[in-house]
Amino acid sequence: MHSTWRDTMENKIDQLLALRQQALQGGGLERQKKRHSSGRYTARERIDLLLDENSFEEFDMFKTHRCTHFDMGKNKWPGDGVITGYGTINGRLVYIFSQDFTVIGGSLSETHAEKICKIMDMALKNGAPIIGLNDSGGARIQEGIESLAGYAEIFQRNVMCSGVIPQLSAIFGPCAGGAVYSPALTDFTVMVRDHSYMFLTGPKVVKSVTGEQVDVEQLGGAEIHTTRSGVAHLAVENEFTALDTLKQLISYLPQNNMASAPLVENDDPPTRTVPELSQLVPVDANQPYDMKTVIAPLVDDGSFFEIQPDFAPNLIIGFARFNGQSVGLVANQPAHMAGVLDNDASIKGARFVRCCDAFNIPLITLVDVPGFMPGTVQEYGGIIRNGAKLLYAYAEATVPKITITTRKAYGGAYCVMSSKHLRGDINYAWPSAEIAVMGAKGAVELIYGRSLEGQTDALSQREAEYSEAFANPYAAAERGYVDDVILPERTRLRICKALAMLADKRDSNPPRKHGNIPL
Ligand code: HXC
Repeated sequence: MHSTWRDTMENKIDQLLALRQQALQGGGLERQKKRHSSGRYTARERIDLLLDENSFEEFDMFKTHRCTHFDMGKNKWPGDGVITGYGTINGRLVYIFSQDFTVIGGSLSETHAEKICKIMDMALKNGAPIIGLNDSGGARIQEGIESLAGYAEIFQRNVMCSGVIPQLSAIFGPCAGGAVYSPALTDFTVMVRDHSYMFLTGPKVVKSVTGEQVDVEQLGGAEIHTTRSGVAHLAVENEFTALDTLKQLISYLPQNNMASAPLVENDDPPTRTVPELSQLVPVDANQPYDMKTVIAPLVDDGSFFEIQPDFAPNLIIGFARFNGQSVGLVANQPAHMAGVLDNDASIKGARFVRCCDAFNIPLITLVDVPGFMPGTVQEYGGIIRNGAKLLYAYAEATVPKITITTRKAYGGAYCVMSSKHLRGDINYAWPSAEIAVMGAKGAVELIYGRSLEGQTDALSQREAEYSEAFANPYAAAERGYVDDVILPERTRLRICKALAMLADKRDSNPPRKHGNIPL
C-alpha cells in the first residue's frame, strides 16, 4: 500500500491506520490465538497489563528486517517481532521491550536488536528502568552473524546500564543460546513456571555432545533456575503474577543510581514496639527459629518482598520498608542449616548487597550465624573465594548499613555480616547475642581437648566459663563493636531512628577504575 503525491490527507491517514493495524496483529490472528490457547498473553497484552493505562508510547512500529536469505525478502512483519517504547508504572517512567513469539518465533534479527538497543540507550540517557519481556527462539537463524552482532550490542548496553538504571527481565517462553546472557546481566529475572526455560544449549545438543538425556524443564525450567542454579530470582505460577512481580520490584527501586527509591506512605508508625520479638529467639543457641517471624512484624506492615526464597534459603534476602523507606534486608535463617554461610548463600548475599549499594538502598542485616560451612564440598566449591565476595560486597558498600545481631555471630561470619569493622554504621545486639570466635563446645574442645580428655565435669566447667566470658553481647559492646545492646521489642523503632539519622550519609571509596572482587 503505497501513497502518491496525489493522495488526500484522508487517504494518508487511512494508510497509516492500516499499517498500524497490520503491526498490531504481529504474526497474525491465528498465531495469537495459538498463544492464548497455550495459556499465554500476546506481547502487546503483556505491555498493557504491566504499564499504567494508556501510558505506552511505541517506537519503531514499522521497522522491518533487511534479510534476503532463505526467501526472507518476501515476508516482512512491521515491528520485526519486538515491541518497544516507554510508559509508566504507578506514574513512574520505564522503558520496555516485549518480544512477540508470533513473528518468526520472536527470534532476534539485526533490526530487532536495533530496536532494543535504541530503547536501552534512551533508558540510560534519561535515567529510568528498562524492562525486558523475553519470549524468543534466539538468534534468527536466517540472518546468522548479524543476529549475533545484535545480541552482543545488547549485552554491551546491559553492562553499561548495570548499576546505573534498574534492569528487570521476565521470561515468558523460550530463552535459548546466547539470548540468556542479556537477562543474566540484568538485576532481577522472573520466570513463569512450566512456560519458560533458559539454557545455553537445548536438550538435543546436550544429548549429542555429552550423551546426557534431559528435558527442557529439568535443563532450564523455572524450578531449576530458582532452586539450583540461582540464575533466576523468582518463579511464579502465571504471566499475570510475573507482571505483577515486576511492578512490585520496581516499587522498591529508584529510577537510577543518582536517585532514591520512592517513599511509600503507610499507616504503620515508626515508633511501634514489637513485644513478640522478646519471645522469639530460643536462648539455647542450638534451637532453630524462623527468622521470617522476626522480619514480618519488624518492617512496615506487609512490606517484606523476598527475593530468591528457594535458592540458598539459609540466607534470606529481600526488600522491605521502614517508615516508608525502601531497604534491602539480608538475614541468616537459623531454620535452615542453622543459618550457616555456604557457597550459594555467599554468592546470593553478595549480589544483593551490591545491587542495594548501587541503587542507594540502605542495608539492614539480621545476624544469627554459626559460621561458614566446613568440609570438602564447600572448600572445593570455593567457599574462600565465594565468602570473600560477600565480605567484599559489604566492605565496599557505602549506603547506610544497620546490623542487628539477634543471637550467634561466630568467627569469620561475624566479620562478614556487616560488622562494625566493615564500616557498619549502626550495630545493635539483642541481649541474646553471642558474639564470639566460635561456640563454647567447639572452643573448649580445641583448647582443652587433649589436656582434659575424658574429664567430662572439667570440660563442662570450662564450657560454662567460656559461655560466661564470650556467649553474650557485652564483650563486643565493651569494645564499641556494637553500639548498644537493645531490647528486642524496640528494634523497629531503633532502626527507623537510625535510618533517619543516616539519611544524608556521605561515604566513598578510593578513586580507581574498578575493584577486583573475587569472582
Ligand atoms: C528463526 C525461528 C527461530 C529462530 C523459532 N523460529 N525460532 N525462526 N530463527 N531462532 C520460528 C519457527 O521456524 C516457526 O516458524 C516459529 O518460529 C515458531 O516456532 P516453532 O518451532 O513452531 O515453535 P515451538 O514448537 O513452540 O518451539 C519453540 C522453540 C523452537 C523451542 C524455541 O522454535 C526452537 O528450537 N527454535 C530454535 C532455537 C534455537 O536453537 N535458537 C538459536 C539459538 S543460537 P513457522 O513459520 O514454522 O511458524 C543463539 C545464538 C545466540 O541464539 C548467541 C548470542 C551470543
